Parts: sequence; C-alpha cells; structure tokens
Amino acid sequence: MLKLRYMKFIHKNSRISERIFKKHIGKLSVYFKLLQEVIDRNSYDYLESSINCPFDRNTLGKVLEMANKKSSAKLKYIIVIGIGGSNLGTKAIYDALYGHFDILENRAPKMIFLDTNNPVFIEKLGKLIHSSKDKNEFLINAISKSGETTETIANLEIVAKMFSKKFPKSLDRFVITTDYQSKLWLIAQKKGISTLAIPQKVGGRFSVFSAVGLFPLAVLGVDIKQLLNGAKLMRSRCTHFDITKNPALQSAIILYEYYKKGLEITDTFVFNPELESLGKWYRQLLAESIGKEKSKRGKKVNAGILPIVSVGSTDLHSVGQLYLGGPINKTTTFVEIKKNWVDVQIPKKRRFPELAENITGKSALQIMTAIMNGTKIAYKKRNLPFCEVVLDELNPKSFGEFMQFKMIEIMLLGKLMDLNTFDQPNVENYKIETKKLLK
Ligand code: PA5
Repeated sequence: MLKLRYMKFIHKNSRISERIFKKHIGKLSVYFKLLQEVIDRNSYDYLESSINCPFDRNTLGKVLEMANKKSSAKLKYIIVIGIGGSNLGTKAIYDALYGHFDILENRAPKMIFLDTNNPVFIEKLGKLIHSSKDKNEFLINAISKSGETTETIANLEIVAKMFSKKFPKSLDRFVITTDYQSKLWLIAQKKGISTLAIPQKVGGRFSVFSAVGLFPLAVLGVDIKQLLNGAKLMRSRCTHFDITKNPALQSAIILYEYYKKGLEITDTFVFNPELESLGKWYRQLLAESIGKEKSKRGKKVNAGILPIVSVGSTDLHSVGQLYLGGPINKTTTFVEIKKNWVDVQIPKKRRFPELAENITGKSALQIMTAIMNGTKIAYKKRNLPFCEVVLDELNPKSFGEFMQFKMIEIMLLGKLMDLNTFDQPNVENYKIETKKLLK
C-alpha cells in the first residue's frame, strides 16, 4: 500500500506480483530519463510537457489576472464552449464540487457546458440569455486548441449571435482559449476579444492544468493554486523511477499486464456519484491515448483498452449482475473519498421498521460504505482484479493529485504498449466525413 499525504493508491487486490512489476519496469528506464529531462528543461518543447503546466507561474499569473478582470458580482453563468479535452477536465471538477448538486442549489455562478450542437439545449440557452438583464451575468469561454473544431465553432457562432442580439457591444464578456497564433487566436485578437494561450505541445486531453481548465475554474472561485499543488506533489511521485513509490507506474503496469492477458476493459468505479464526470475525463484520456490502429513503429496493431465508468451504488442495480456473474474481462479501480464531510442519520424512530431492519441506527454514509466494502469482497471472491484510489476529501488538491497521477499513468502505459500516446489520427476519419457532408 502506498500512503501519500492526500491520495492513496492500493493495489493489493490487483494480484500483480513484484516479479511482474520488475519484469516490465526495465522497458521504461529510458522513458523516465526523458521525463526527467522534460522536468529539468521546464519547457513546453516535449509532448510530455503537460507535466510542467502545474509549475508554470506565468500562465497562472495570466489566468488569475484575466479571471479577476472578467469576474463580476453579477456573474451567474459561465458558459464553457468546447468539446473533448477542451472541457472534460473542467466539467470533472465542476460536477464534483458543484454541478452534481445544481438541481438542489440556488448558487452562482453556475457553469453551462456547451459541447455538442444540440438544438434543444442551445435554444433553451438562448431563452436564458434573452431573459437576463445584464451582460455581466454571463461569461463565455470558448476553448479550442486547434481553433477549428466544427462543434465548438458552430456553438460559438450561435452564442455570439444570441448574445450580441440581446447585448450589443458585449465582446468583453467573451474569452477565447486556443493555441497561440491559431486562426481563432488571430481572429479574436483582431476583434479585440480577450485570449488565453494553450502551450503548443500540450494536447487537449492533457491540458486541464493549462489555461483550458484553470481559467473557467478560477472564475468559478475554485482554488486553482491548491489544484496545482496537488498536481505538483503527484508529479514528483509519478516521475520517480521507483515502483514502490510510484502509483502511476504501478497502475500502468497492472493495466498493461492484464491487457496482454486479454482483459481489454477497465472500469473506474466511483462511489460518490459526483465523481462520474471525473471518470469520464479519464475515459477520454485513456481511450484517445491508447486506442490506436498502428504502433509507434507503424505496425497495424488495433490496440486499445475500453475505459468504462460505473457509479456506486446505482450501477450495482444495473450492471452489477454482469460484473459479478459474467466474463472476467476487466480490471477495476474503485475511487472513494476518505472524508465525506456530511452525513445523514436514519431516523431512530422509524416509520417502516419492519423493512430493511439492519439500517436502524445507521447513517447514509455507513450504508454506502457497507455497500462499497461488500462490493469489494464480492469482487475478491470472484477473483476480479481491482485497485483502489482513496482521495482524502473532495477538494481541488485531491483532484490535482488524481488527474496528474492518471495523466502520467497513461504516458507510461502508452510507452509500454509502444503507442503514440499523444495523437488521435483516427478521430480525423469522422471529421473528414462530416466536413464532406456539410460542404
Ligand atoms: O484530447 C484531444 O486532443 C481532443 O479530445 C480535443 O480536445 C478535441 O477534439 C477538441 O479539439 P479542440 O480543442 O482543438 O477543439
């Protein structure tokens, strides 16, 4: 068991022995030297340079300055226009801290994520804009690394039109986050729209600690310094070439070993429903990085591990039967929170005491913990391999740790599988066909 200050990674039930770990780490020694070089140079010249984002004080300064400039006491909605790596990290953190509870709380600002071109959603957003009184109730952050993604540009066009119709002269409520000097950057600059740059070699799905994630989260009021502190702490752990201290290395080897044995699915099983989007952020990170037609050397391999997300205890009543009775074809990482700050008691004087007798005198948390531990015992009995991540609490620091841990895990896994972790050539296939159809 690896005890970190905040996050714990436990792999004793992965059933991967020290011998297996040792068998694979040799393949990564050169790569760890490269990661060290990336750190030493502290530059953005490498595909792995996202590991330097948490240490980039220049970006942090610019992001905080922009957040300060664009914040307003009247701010009610932050509209994030972007898709894939451009919004999933922000959404993961927003949903965990706020979004999952949006239906229950009158709180401002709220984040609205506009990724697909869903006319019903866009039309309702238009009505919301139309019904508001002050342009400062909104901030629109369009995020696109390439600056050319169809969904994002289409949504930006529509929102810009809706907004200017209601509030003429309102470009100051827009911020564009994109690659420095992309076409979108140049157009935004020409129109006098505020811009934030994404370091050129930091890919979308590795960009949550760049202006992509930091800016909207800072406007929201998330302590982004704490987020980065968590990431910093984890970078030093996960770039350390010592299997006993490095959770990313352990986790990458576990995934790789089982992949080779035919377990081509991995489940991120969260027991706090508000972490579902965090699981979906990881789903994209793993799928786009590791799902590849060709190896790095150009050999056709059609490699990949299918990442899925399960939510406890909801999904135990949906896919639990399959998981516990069906084929052994997946690895699982249970993600849980150590300190849940609130708890709710089952009333002592019960109205339905004849039912579910064993809950008398218990709390909601005790029940959830019993279900989670019961699930783990059932997994063990079925010989289903699993790891556990225990986040200390639901705070930015824990997210920083988890996300950095997972990004480095994926870099190591890509190396073990001899893949180019940082490209996504086959996503182009649908984009080319879409562009043809829209011509
Ligand atoms: O991780 C990636 O690179 C992708 O998921 C992109 O983030 C996604 O396709 C959106 O691209 P862009 O940010 O260029 O609009």
